[in-house]
Amino acid sequence: MKKYCIVANFVVPLHVFYWIMVVLDGKYIAAQIRAELKKEVADMVADGHRAPSLGIVIVGHNPASETYVANKMKACAEVGIEARKIALEESVTEAELLSCVANLNNDSSIDGFIVQLPLPPHISEQNILSAIDYRKDVDGLTPENVGRTVQGLPSIVSATPRGISELLCRYNIPTEGRHVVVIGRSNIVGKPMAILLMQRPYLLVPKMSVAAVGNATVTICHSKTRNLKDICLTADIIIVAAGSPGLLTADMVREGTTVIDVGITRVDDPATPKGYRLAGDVDFENVAPKCAYITPVPGGVGPMTIVSLLSNTLQAAKKI
Ligand code: GUN
Repeated sequence: MKKYCIVANFVVPLHVFYWIMVVLDGKYIAAQIRAELKKEVADMVADGHRAPSLGIVIVGHNPASETYVANKMKACAEVGIEARKIALEESVTEAELLSCVANLNNDSSIDGFIVQLPLPPHISEQNILSAIDYRKDVDGLTPENVGRTVQGLPSIVSATPRGISELLCRYNIPTEGRHVVVIGRSNIVGKPMAILLMQRPYLLVPKMSVAAVGNATVTICHSKTRNLKDICLTADIIIVAAGSPGLLTADMVREGTTVIDVGITRVDDPATPKGYRLAGDVDFENVAPKCAYITPVPGGVGPMTIVSLLSNTLQAAKKI
């Protein structure tokens, strides 16, 4: 049923107003949060504590991983978090990497650390992630942290879902009672995102203002889902984290939907100086005009993910 309203004696279909579309500025919100974190770190140091410290383990020379790590180190420097990079050769064995993880677990000068993914195929990501002390797991990827999140206990939440939650909250986009379709079932984004959305909102981190999404009706879709288009057409919010450029097209989105694009794939483009461009999972040009809110790529979810890693590091440093 279409809804109508009367404006200056003209009957106007209500959906016309949905065309006021807002691009969610992750870059701006992330800068705002970095300023807040910088102050928190400065207060900590003024109180006589050492600055929070983050270990970043990178294996091999994956160009995308090297860029991510450089961006994470730069963001740490900006807020006063000490970042220590541990670069290991592609040929490192699983046993050697496990030993590196054990050293970081036991190093009292490190508050939290991450092992940048993906790892070379001869190393089991599961074995490495499971070896991280969950109190230092600032990626929120250990079975312990995931389990605690599922049970509504204080936990460190994976950075991308935490960043998306912050973005929705800071733009006052409610999730309660909304139908949220999550496309993608990865351990890093899809699964933890769906869990946060379906929970009764709770204080993820006691004493810290962590955005609380929740009370949504959640549908998780993936590569084997039938009728993806029909499901998306029933969504109030769509979160796409499939790593498939242009997957979400305009015919899959009804007017007034909020679309969050987590995709960030390097696509060859000889016309650009770097020889590639970053492509999201959403056909932005055609989807955006139908949306109430939409994130761009780049400048949407990416900056929120990095700043959430910093928030997680501060959380680990404060041991809360
Ligand atoms: N590779 C791509 N994204 C991530 C992330 O959020 N954490 C880690 N450790 N590796 C990644």
